[in-house]
Amino acid sequence: MRVIVTGGAGFIGSALVRHLVLEQGYEVLNVDALTYAGNLASLAAVEGRPNYRFLRANICDRGAMESAVADFRPDRIMHLAAESHVDRSITGSADFIETNVIGTFTLLETARSYWSDLDAAAKQAFRFLHVSTDEVYGSLGAEGLFTEDTPYDPSSPYSASKASSDHLAKAWQRTYGLPVVVSNCSNNYGPYHFPEKLIPLTILNALAGERLPVYGKGENVRDWLYVEDHARALDLIAERGRVGETYNVGGRNERRNIDVVRRICSVLDEITPANRPREELIDFVTDRPGHDARYAIDATKLETELGWRARENFDTGIEKTVRWYLDNDWWWRPLRDRYTGERLGLLNPAKG
Ligand SMILES: NC(=O)c1ccc[n+]([C@@H]2O[C@H](COP(=O)([O-])OP(=O)(O)OC[C@H]3O[C@@H](n4cnc5c(N)ncnc54)[C@H](O)[C@@H]3O)[C@@H](O)[C@H]2O)c1
Repeated sequence: MRVIVTGGAGFIGSALVRHLVLEQGYEVLNVDALTYAGNLASLAAVEGRPNYRFLRANICDRGAMESAVADFRPDRIMHLAAESHVDRSITGSADFIETNVIGTFTLLETARSYWSDLDAAAKQAFRFLHVSTDEVYGSLGAEGLFTEDTPYDPSSPYSASKASSDHLAKAWQRTYGLPVVVSNCSNNYGPYHFPEKLIPLTILNALAGERLPVYGKGENVRDWLYVEDHARALDLIAERGRVGETYNVGGRNERRNIDVVRRICSVLDEITPANRPREELIDFVTDRPGHDARYAIDATKLETELGWRARENFDTGIEKTVRWYLDNDWWWRPLRDRYTGERLGLLNPAKG
């Protein structure tokens, strides 16, 4: 099995590459532009393996994509490369439109021209997995879950750009017959997560005794999935998902942001006690504009049709994650030194 993974130096992409190279023994070509979010240190475990290769290239570069595909001759393309941080999309949306929309279009066109020249058997077996987010569905009230039939209603420049790319992927399947499958996943957490996102930021600030910013009142609800459960789901969807279908991926682990932050504090207080409870570091800050109230995934289709189950619940996953950050400062310290922690995504930063 020969797989191109785009965005394989990112948080989820690197978990997927480690899974495909180490657990499955597949031949993997990781195509990544190494933006601020890409980090080859997350791939130390696969570096030097004969079944792993890396290509630094931008998915918007049609020539580079065509020669990557022509040289590597993939059976699958698993497309994760994206601009992924909502706050950054509010401060500057251009990169999101460029990579998420134009980049996905470029990759779909590249895949289509490669796929249309394959022989009948290879054509039948080829898959293009487009990896997306539950944020395309917009925001839920207190009740209900996102299903694969929930209408798209994105709120942020990030989720709107992802929604656009999902529509392109679906259209390339319907119009040209390209064997596309789409997955929409809830919030991920786990090892190798860039320190600007809520969970790693909270762990590292709490460890350093620094304030723990929580947006608004911390009442926004997210449905958390351990990243390695997501990587296994993506592999399964690419293997057995039906062409033209969407599969929602989620861990049935809804938590309010404030409860996530409190849980991290209590796990850290247990493992490595400080002078005072770390909860005292919590600092409520100006909310994100257009902040979706609640996301929650109904993963029944993935569970019943493909037999996937999350292995971690939030309590087991968060403890593993905290311990990973405690044991792996070689990975996060250089990022913390470079990343200023400046608040992004405010319409009027002066008042932030
Ligand atoms: N993080 C989540 O909770 C979450 C949840 C559901 C879906 N997703 C989706 O999963 C995918 C991966 O998310 P992530 O959290 O790992 O993102 P990430 O920001 O950690 O990584 C993105 C990777 O893509 C690369 N990249 C960005 N622009 C590129 C370009 N133009 N060409 C080539 N490479 C480029 C970056 O260098 C980086 O390695 C995204 O498509 C995202 O929308 C993420």
